[in-house]
Amino acid sequence: MSGSPGASERLFAQARALMPGGVSSPVRAFGHVGGTPRYIARGDGAYLWDEDGRKYLDFCLAWGPLILGHANPQVVEAVTKAAKDGLAFGAPHRLEVTLAELILSAYQPFERIRFVVSGTEAVMTAMRLARAHTGRPLILKFSGCYHGHADAMLVKAGSGVATLGLADSEGVTPTVAKDTLVAPLGDVGALEELFRVHGARLAAAFIEPLPANNGLLVQERRYLQALRAITQKHGALLVFDEVISGFRLGFHGYGLTVDVRPDLVTLGKIIGGGLPVGAVAGRAELLDRLAPAGRVYQAGTMSGNPVALAAGVACLEQLKTGEPYRRIAKAGEAMDAAFVGKQNLAFQLVRVGSVFWPYFDRSAPVPTRAEAISEDAIKGFRSRYQGWLEQGLYLPPSAYEVGFLSSAHEPAHVQQLVEALAGA
Ligand SMILES: Cc1ncc(COP(=O)(O)O)c(C=O)c1O
Repeated sequence: MSGSPGASERLFAQARALMPGGVSSPVRAFGHVGGTPRYIARGDGAYLWDEDGRKYLDFCLAWGPLILGHANPQVVEAVTKAAKDGLAFGAPHRLEVTLAELILSAYQPFERIRFVVSGTEAVMTAMRLARAHTGRPLILKFSGCYHGHADAMLVKAGSGVATLGLADSEGVTPTVAKDTLVAPLGDVGALEELFRVHGARLAAAFIEPLPANNGLLVQERRYLQALRAITQKHGALLVFDEVISGFRLGFHGYGLTVDVRPDLVTLGKIIGGGLPVGAVAGRAELLDRLAPAGRVYQAGTMSGNPVALAAGVACLEQLKTGEPYRRIAKAGEAMDAAFVGKQNLAFQLVRVGSVFWPYFDRSAPVPTRAEAISEDAIKGFRSRYQGWLEQGLYLPPSAYEVGFLSSAHEPAHVQQLVEALAGA
């Protein structure tokens, strides 16, 4: 495959005159890997087709929601049926009850859930709830964890044990940023110091329990358990941001995997089956602070949209059978098997179930905190990206993003991926 992408190039040129950077969300612009973003015309199972009719084996999967692959027939059927019954009601409907029951059955002992439209909104709601519940102003996040684009979460770590947040985006005022503290991942000593100084004013610690937005920075179970203990000791809430990890490794949250019970979880991606659904869930005592049960305001015209919830229900009902997880496990085993006999590879692969991250540096163990990611690894990914596209593999267009497997991926697909990553 060579030459210009034709239709994608033309559309991107038009889009750049109409939309900032030509896109609806920054990383889609391919700025990190160079070249023209592919304009996608359709997806089916493990495959995508672009506007030029080129076919790609997809490992980006819309950044995580498509755990059943593209255009899963049951999801499409449920969405079609729901759409025929009306696109939006702005009133209660039965699918809210169905999806709430499905999700809460996987997150016991949580008793309540509020549906929103995105992961960002779920996090915004959880922050407001945590502040209302504790009467405290500060939020703690961890360097390398992404929690959507609410102002308070757009801060990054400085060096040292823990820093008062500095805005990571123009337009975030210092007043907002100073209420967010940032700690490095994996460092219990830093946590203890931070809580010693700020513990009495901390409303909540937010963490991606499986940090997957700055590479895949797998944390030790005992670190997450230490975070649980220290938040409890200081009367702060622990919020697991499970927008990626929720329902990822099985029909449950990541808390079950690491034996940690957070106070709140934020969800998105998989629970919408490919349509926009986010949620915050927790015990009644906390969630019932939300209006109209309580005095914490939160609302949305499109919250609990019936078509979106129909997709979520159809997705989770399939996941509940366990079959998609078994298929993903098989693809994962095939991935491991594809490495047998391969030597002198330029990368190390981190994989947790259906989430994987190729790290193009072999000089040290794979990092578990954002600060340890090497420049070489970033360059290694970037320099190979166009080659993968030309071989018909669509990976997330950034070295910092993780790839995903779905139940639509066959062992042969992951073998193809490993061969391509290995530079065959
Ligand atoms: C862990 C996590 N939290 C929050 C978000 C924000 O979700 P959304 O993009 O739906 O607003 C994301 C998005 O990737 C995420 O990965």
